[in-house]
Amino acid sequence: MSVRLTLAVAAGFDFPDTGRIGLFGPTPDFALTILPASRVEIIQGFKPYHDHFSGLGAAASVRPDGRFAASVVCLPRARPAAQAMIWQALSVTDGPVAVDGLKSGGIDSVLKAVRSRVPVSAPISKAHGKLFWFTASPDDFADWKAELTRLDDGFVTAPGCFSADGPDPASVLLAESLPEKIGKRIADLGAGWGYLAARILERSAVQSIDLIEADHTVLKCARLNVTDPRARFHWADACNWRAADSPDTVVMNPPFHTGRSADPSLGRDFIASAARLLPSHGTLWMVANRHLPYETALSAHFRDWSETTGDARFKIIRASGPTRNRR
Ligand SMILES: C[S@@+](CC[C@H](N)C(=O)[O-])C[C@H]1O[C@@H](n2cnc3c(N)ncnc32)[C@H](O)[C@@H]1O
Repeated sequence: MSVRLTLAVAAGFDFPDTGRIGLFGPTPDFALTILPASRVEIIQGFKPYHDHFSGLGAAASVRPDGRFAASVVCLPRARPAAQAMIWQALSVTDGPVAVDGLKSGGIDSVLKAVRSRVPVSAPISKAHGKLFWFTASPDDFADWKAELTRLDDGFVTAPGCFSADGPDPASVLLAESLPEKIGKRIADLGAGWGYLAARILERSAVQSIDLIEADHTVLKCARLNVTDPRARFHWADACNWRAADSPDTVVMNPPFHTGRSADPSLGRDFIASAARLLPSHGTLWMVANRHLPYETALSAHFRDWSETTGDARFKIIRASGPTRNRR
């Protein structure tokens, strides 16, 4: 968080006088004011956050282009993604790299791991997090370099992404619960690396499927996993994506976490978005963890909905007759 960076600058972390500054993975709570605005480039592949910073007038990219005089890494929570981001920053930065993260997000173990390889600054501790900085060659962290992984079943996934080790059991249950006749035009909100879309495309009657995914790297995996020409890929926020032609059916296994805490509001926004996208005869199919309270949102946005099947962990919901938030 930017308060730790402010303290770090006071404690001796020096931005070089010239050259670009890379800011890797900031979330919207990061205040840019501490950084020299005209020299900062934000590397952020998650579309809502990318749009947030672009909207502030900042230069934002999904991957670094060119070199930086110094960089700041805002640590993602998944350890493989955190290591990959540090390696990426080192590989394009000629000066110091600062790493900032929450204690609950694993900053202590990352600090320990970095310190075991290279000298690091004294950490700044503030607001439930830590920030430290160091200068190193990417070769010192060569084993942290991110590669997409090809799983035994052939699917490609990204380090630290949702269900990186194989199809998510909730999505498998949804895929197995969908009817053979699902409609001609499908939209998959929060499509991930494409498992659900691939299963839906087993149906020859499907004419098109739109995969809407906010994470740029994960969508890249989906493009590799779903090569069927009926698939269309959208790097977009599912909560405000607009369809060129409305889908008959929306499918989704919506995101349910902000960091480590369960956050049903994301799923509720996805339900509202599905209702907005669907025509009056359209249908939503979704899977959710059994404990997540989506019932009120479903009743608010659909005339009819029911749990069609499920198990102890997940519920499969079919909703029809979208009623609200139509545009
Ligand atoms: C629970 S995962 C499901 C992934 C995939 N559908 C599956 O079944 O494996 C939710 C996905 O939604 C994506 N996501 C989160 N917020 C999003 C948003 N606002 N717009 C679009 N996708 C989003 C996440 O990156 C993640 O890939």
